[in-house]
Amino acid sequence: MSQINYLEINPLPKDWERRIRKVLKELKNFYPKKSSNFTLVLTNKEKIQEYNQRFLNRNFPTNVLSFRGEGNYLGDILVSVEKAKEEASFYQLPLEDYLIMLVIHGFLHLLDYDHEKGLYAPWLMLKNEVKLCERFCINKEKILNFLRRREYMPAKLAVNVDHVATVREARKTYYPDPVYAAVLAELGGADGIVVHLRLDRRHIKERDVKLIKEIIKVKLILEMSLDKALIEFAKTVKPYQVTLVPEKVEEVTTEGGLELDGRVEEVKAVVKELNKGGIKVSLFLNPEEKVLELAKKTGAQIVELHTGKYAEALEENERIKELERLERASFWAKELGFIVHAGHGLNYENIMPVAALPTIEEFSIGHSIIGRAIMVGIKEAVKEMKELIIRSREGK
Ligand code: PXP
Repeated sequence: MSQINYLEINPLPKDWERRIRKVLKELKNFYPKKSSNFTLVLTNKEKIQEYNQRFLNRNFPTNVLSFRGEGNYLGDILVSVEKAKEEASFYQLPLEDYLIMLVIHGFLHLLDYDHEKGLYAPWLMLKNEVKLCERFCINKEKILNFLRRREYMPAKLAVNVDHVATVREARKTYYPDPVYAAVLAELGGADGIVVHLRLDRRHIKERDVKLIKEIIKVKLILEMSLDKALIEFAKTVKPYQVTLVPEKVEEVTTEGGLELDGRVEEVKAVVKELNKGGIKVSLFLNPEEKVLELAKKTGAQIVELHTGKYAEALEENERIKELERLERASFWAKELGFIVHAGHGLNYENIMPVAALPTIEEFSIGHSIIGRAIMVGIKEAVKEMKELIIRSREGK
């Protein structure tokens, strides 16, 4: 017999429970070894976070976890009803069906289907999820549409090559060349190349931007302040996207997000001008709802959430607090209709929890990749980061 247990939450309404029991019973028939049992444990966010941390070393609440059993016992599926509620409401899906979809997902993991393993595994897992959801969900169309376009799409990685130019400028030579680095980053799997053309031209120069635009196949993202001459330059180079950032000559790196208070009209005019030139505009912002609401008035298409505070947090609770702040802001930004990106200070140790946030579509990462590339080479450094981003979503 497969059963439902409740861990620190109230039982579901009786009719829901009955429906889930029926699904569990029929799921067993999907598996040829009919004598095998498994347990569905319904719990809250805290508990699933505890298990996620303890067994998978991931300190955030996920929606579903599976633990493989031994012999005839297939294992346990842990589902956070609280997390499922939040997600179902965000994706505007019926909770009952959403819960069933998570149970199916967990069940397939018990059968060793794994969307993380190898090239065809995601496809195979999805095929089975679609088949089972088609059978058990009431609002089939909504759930199936959701399944077909959801988290198997990992976030993208845009690689910032500024610091290759920093090394070049340390000796005012012609090497190492950020143009070569951009090509290698693309070969390593970068989905975009980022360069910051600073007012003092301390690393990237106009020549770098133009050559990178010529040579790469992936998109070029030009970071810059709202300086008039830079806007003119951007209009001639036509990168895929301009990211508007605040800039102080004396700063070591971009410090905070763009200040929009009292500047909406100014930013709006720049967005309009760049958009007219066929360039998408992203605003680099602190992850705050108030800021995002002001951003909406500028007409920008994308927001890049500043992950600096999260990255710099030394204490575990502070890091979790900052991660939750990013989570809330990313959901809110998506609600407002933005494409959501994030970046700053992300490295090989801190990337996975943020990369698991389903609302963030792209990460902009520079310093840590170029730093690692000194040790392992650019292609390898980009490949390693990309793998972490892919593994983080919905993953084990
Ligand atoms: N995003 C923006 C807007 C930035 O200004 C920077 C730094 O140039 C980054 C992302 C990348 O930050 P890091 O070099 O710390 O990865």
